[in-house]
Amino acid sequence: MNRKYRKTVIAANWKMNKTPSDTKAFMTEFKAMMPKGRWCDVAICVPAVCIPAAVRAMRETRVGIGAENCNANASGAYTGEIATNMLVDAGCKYVIIGHSERRAMGETDAEVNAKVQAALAAELIPILCVGESLEQREIGITEEWITMQIKAALNGVAEEKIRKIIIAYEPIWAIGTGKTATPEQAEEVCEHIRTVIRKLYGAKIARATSILYGGSMNEKNAFELLAQPDIDGGLIGGASLVPEKFVKIIEAANQPTV
Ligand code: PGA
Repeated sequence: MNRKYRKTVIAANWKMNKTPSDTKAFMTEFKAMMPKGRWCDVAICVPAVCIPAAVRAMRETRVGIGAENCNANASGAYTGEIATNMLVDAGCKYVIIGHSERRAMGETDAEVNAKVQAALAAELIPILCVGESLEQREIGITEEWITMQIKAALNGVAEEKIRKIIIAYEPIWAIGTGKTATPEQAEEVCEHIRTVIRKLYGAKIARATSILYGGSMNEKNAFELLAQPDIDGGLIGGASLVPEKFVKIIEAANQPTV
């Protein structure tokens, strides 16, 4: 982390877990134990049906609520889909885009790019996910793959818009597996992501971009991961479902930095 130049962000990704009633119960518990400091931003991305309950519960707090996906079209015949203006109207501040679980369901780089543009146009903060598979890591193409994913996702995104984006590095082999990247492995790729942003948008923007790590981050390994200079926060699945664990990760993000 480097708080001098960029925000630290701890983001929850609930995936397909919790009902609206569970959401209300979680938020009540979480609010009671939330750290009082204002060192990091907190985002909780929840299933679409849980958004109203989450927004209602967090209204008077500094926690932002997010969605886990959006559709790039403004409106129309897209049964079951949700447009960015609907998310904004429901009170969302963030939206996760390009999660590997959605890419595995067929989401393409072009769709990810269209969603990033739609989210930015609606003034939602996109949490753009990139990450390599175990096979890609083993054959040594992690950096090329990540470069390609970022270039594709940000294609046509103007300089003044890029400042709003949060990037999450999530190695697929570490998601939900309990197999976390080592702080060195995670730092190496997050640093590479910053280099890619620097080449695309210049040093000032690269320095100001928050880059998160995600993949089995938990209350035990968060401190060390977040101590890395280019890891500005976390995108947390499993451990974000339990208030005590999520709070401990936020506390780890409130460690002093350079
Ligand atoms: P995990 O999920 O923390 O359960 O590994 C992270 C994510 O997929 O965003």
